[in-house]
Amino acid sequence: MADGRVEKVQATELGAMKRRGERIVMITAYDAPSARLADAAGVDAVLVGDSAAMTVLGLDTTIPITIDEMLVLTRAAARGAKRPLVVGDLPFGAYQSSDDVAVESAIRFAKEGRADAVKLEGAGPMLRRAGAIVDAGIPVMGHIGLTPQSVKKLGGYKPQGRTATTAQRLLDSALALERAGCFAIVLEAIPAPVAARITAALAIPTIGIGAGPSCDGQVLVWHDVLGLSGGHVPRFVKRYADLGAEIVRALGEYAAEVRAGTFPDERHTYAMPEQELERFESHIAGAPPRGGRDD
Ligand code: KIV
Repeated sequence: MADGRVEKVQATELGAMKRRGERIVMITAYDAPSARLADAAGVDAVLVGDSAAMTVLGLDTTIPITIDEMLVLTRAAARGAKRPLVVGDLPFGAYQSSDDVAVESAIRFAKEGRADAVKLEGAGPMLRRAGAIVDAGIPVMGHIGLTPQSVKKLGGYKPQGRTATTAQRLLDSALALERAGCFAIVLEAIPAPVAARITAALAIPTIGIGAGPSCDGQVLVWHDVLGLSGGHVPRFVKRYADLGAEIVRALGEYAAEVRAGTFPDERHTYAMPEQELERFESHIAGAPPRGGRDD
């Protein structure tokens, strides 16, 4: 923009990117500095994923994270992501029970979380939820395949759509989400040929995570990409940096310098005029014993 403001990526722009054959880059981020870095790296969309439950809150699954917790993270990321589209992930319980609940939650993400769009998992009864949110004026990203909020129903974090029947079901779900008004769909942990067929069948973009190279875009989790994940990292993750090791090294050096008394040195310390210091010392020298009166 001529006035120096950056032009925000709109949800509709992702569809235009698909039509132009441009790959879409999405990454999760959960706070302002991370979103600012993602913006500086030129990513198109920041997903404030409910994976925050695990990456940020230290929980075992995404299921317990609350709307209020997600809103704090979404609002923070939205402050940092000036250009990228910010997608707020509706957590478990924020949309499953009724269309009204889904619309109310999505409105909170748009107003309080400053999200540009929301994401929800699944198809079936969730198609109506997606349609209701779109009708309320909020863009919706779908998510099928391995849907972590249903991990207990799925029996674990397993790839989906590996049989002809389940692959067909995924294709049907994707087409139904498109008809419901979604502007894009995340395909998680499904065989690459299945993702390729779904991508070819849809006018809206697919964003893959563990779904092969034919998707219109890719998304990965911040902590996985940067080497900040504590535990098991799925097969589909590529680590582009080992910041965890770098952080441990830096903090170890800091601890060693504090213990040795070499930090802080003069460069990290405030000085005061010599004359003021002398006056201060003479006040101390002439001061009554501690506990005595000061006037
Ligand atoms: O919560 C999340 O980070 C996600 C991505 C893995 C797509 O849903």
